[in-house]
Amino acid sequence: MDKNELIGKTADFVRNTLKDAEGGHDWWHIYRVWNNANLIAKTEQADMLVVELAALLHDIADSKFHGGDEEIGPQTASTFLKSINVDDITIHHVQQIIRYLSFKSSFDEVIFTSKELQIVQDADRLDAIGAIGIARAFSYGGFKGREFYDPAIKPNLSMTKAEYKNTTAPTINHFYEKLLQLKDKMNTTTGKKLAKQRHSFMESYLEQFYAEWEASVSV
Ligand code: ADP
Ligand code: NI
Repeated sequence: MDKNELIGKTADFVRNTLKDAEGGHDWWHIYRVWNNANLIAKTEQADMLVVELAALLHDIADSKFHGGDEEIGPQTASTFLKSINVDDITIHHVQQIIRYLSFKSSFDEVIFTSKELQIVQDADRLDAIGAIGIARAFSYGGFKGREFYDPAIKPNLSMTKAEYKNTTAPTINHFYEKLLQLKDKMNTTTGKKLAKQRHSFMESYLEQFYAEWEASVSV
């Protein structure tokens, strides 16, 4: 199979596997990350087969929805890629990217990195901020039954990994605990530029949110 066929087959597999997924982690999240990754990679030197396969497979089996098992994603990706005869070096690289991509791993020491990981990581982070990021946060919060906001519950800016994974705090807190921190963690030039715009949009959003909460918007 040539590169385009491998990518097409992988996209079909992912679309089909994620058809009943929660709104923030569904096929359309993958579609946006895949597009973001292609855009970012235009100004980087990278192995595009690895970038596209990793973008497509990065959330194929998220540990959050599989009892905390962090190996299920890389394992599912590898089994699929073997079935379409992708070479072992590419499979291993895609697995490493899936393992070390997530925000949760930023609590740990950096064990693996590569240009391809940096591109997919930026692409995934961009989808967690801006207008889409806001929609995803409230979708995830709704899925978990969280409140939007509680003025008495302050964000925890120095969370441990365990606290981050187990928090039940309102969704607005997540903006401070993760979303507003992402712009300073971007790896690539294009990623940084796009993150800046999306970051200021979230700041305006929060301003408006608090104003409406207290009915202090001028009429
Ligand atoms: P990662 O896998 O990088 O740790 P997550 O899977 O936690 O990232 O985040 C995926 C999406 O779910 C993001 O859009 C994120 O904002 C949202 N999300 C994760 N945790 C929360 C939370 N506690 N409240 C609201 N949204 C969340
Ligand atoms: Ni993702």
